[in-house]
Amino acid sequence: MSSLLIRNGTVVTATDHYQADVCIEGETVSMIGATLDVVAEREIDATGCYLFPGGIDAHTHMELPVMGTRSSDTFETGTLAGLHGGTTTIIDFANQSRGGTLEAAIQEWHRKADDNAVCDYAFHCAVTDFNADSRKEIPNIIHDHGINSFKIFMAYKDTLMIDDLQIHQLMEEVAEHGGIVTAHTENGDMIERNIHNNLAAGNKALKYHALSRPAYCEAEAAGRAIDMAYETGCPFYIVHTTCEETLEMVKAATLRNQKVHVETCIQYLLLDESWYSKEGFEGAKMVISPPLRKRKDQEALWAGMNQNLVHHVATDHCPFCLAQKEAGREDFTKIPNGAPGVENRFELLFSEGVAKGRIGLNKFVEMSSTGAAKIFGLFPRKGTIAVGSDADIVIFDPEIQHTISADSHHMNVDYNPYEGWQVQGKTRTTILRGTVAIDEGEALVSRGFGEYLKRPPRNSI
Ligand code: URP
Ligand code: ZN
Ligand code: ZN
Repeated sequence: MSSLLIRNGTVVTATDHYQADVCIEGETVSMIGATLDVVAEREIDATGCYLFPGGIDAHTHMELPVMGTRSSDTFETGTLAGLHGGTTTIIDFANQSRGGTLEAAIQEWHRKADDNAVCDYAFHCAVTDFNADSRKEIPNIIHDHGINSFKIFMAYKDTLMIDDLQIHQLMEEVAEHGGIVTAHTENGDMIERNIHNNLAAGNKALKYHALSRPAYCEAEAAGRAIDMAYETGCPFYIVHTTCEETLEMVKAATLRNQKVHVETCIQYLLLDESWYSKEGFEGAKMVISPPLRKRKDQEALWAGMNQNLVHHVATDHCPFCLAQKEAGREDFTKIPNGAPGVENRFELLFSEGVAKGRIGLNKFVEMSSTGAAKIFGLFPRKGTIAVGSDADIVIFDPEIQHTISADSHHMNVDYNPYEGWQVQGKTRTTILRGTVAIDEGEALVSRGFGEYLKRPPRNSI
């Protein structure tokens, strides 16, 4: 069995930080101690560095079919890019096709990911066509496929959205079998009406994308879904939360002792609606749903982390190259929705969060890794540095400064929303299941190194 000893780093978990040596045997952590008296095949000196649990990004879309095209990262390119930045696990969404089964969706996602992913991966199952037959598939998806999380879209009417009765029934079934429902909360009917009215008035420029999807549309759907989760007793998670109004709904739920799990994404913390007033077609780079919001929403989301209202910072990584975005130059409804982020999330959250004093070190780990691991049943295998856990460790140098650029990033997309941003702190080495995957920018693993992660029903955790 191979062994690796990391000396003199500062181990940081969601609750502690302390200086220690970490010994890895095979794929797992075998010992942690102040000064370990052991000999290993390889030693790494991590003096001056933090040892963080490998990042988990619980919201990605690799090779997602959207509007007649596909998001531009494959499981190979996207997961390798993630590793470069410090992300060792992703959870991608296997989307059911209308008229298709959940089983077929899972098989399709395995075809894309297996033998291709470089980091570890799991799937959420996105239910876009809920009926008596798909209801019957739920127990099998949880128990046989090891997928305990289901996604609903309350927006994207006529393609992905399901209605309230379907949501109720799905929640009942998922709750009974130990799963969790995750939701894209935007009111699809309100948005359809706004889009229709804008197009009828000749308002086709990209800024009308955002104007068709105001924050109250998101908060309304969030409140409705929270109530349905309350009524059915279903564990519930809101994906890509963007605004103060949605957090108010979550806060209100806490008063009746309802736990709502909340994800935001790095772009909603760092970028704002001014993107949609940029010159020309530049704003198309950040045509995403829900859209970017106001500065006050960013402040509410940062505060939400410290108030324990926000539990995970993901990316909703769904990149499209500029030529793909061009499809909507004359009509905002034809711009494929999505933006890149999987490579930059971890370092940006440290730089903008920890280095700028908005969150502490333990909160950083909770947001980038532990929170998602706990919510989705990966903990304690993933999400922490502990004896017996997978040795997914990021050796992170807080002193190194670097600049983000599409010229040097590893994502398969020809722009970066954070182009030119100065970042404080850098992933020096990424270790995945005991193997040095990235070292000083060099990839030492390749296609197929990633493992599929089955997740147990939540009531068995
Ligand atoms: O614009 C986005 N977010 N595209 C990906 C699909 C989704 O809604 O998560
Ligand atoms: Zn979404
Ligand atoms: Zn998404």
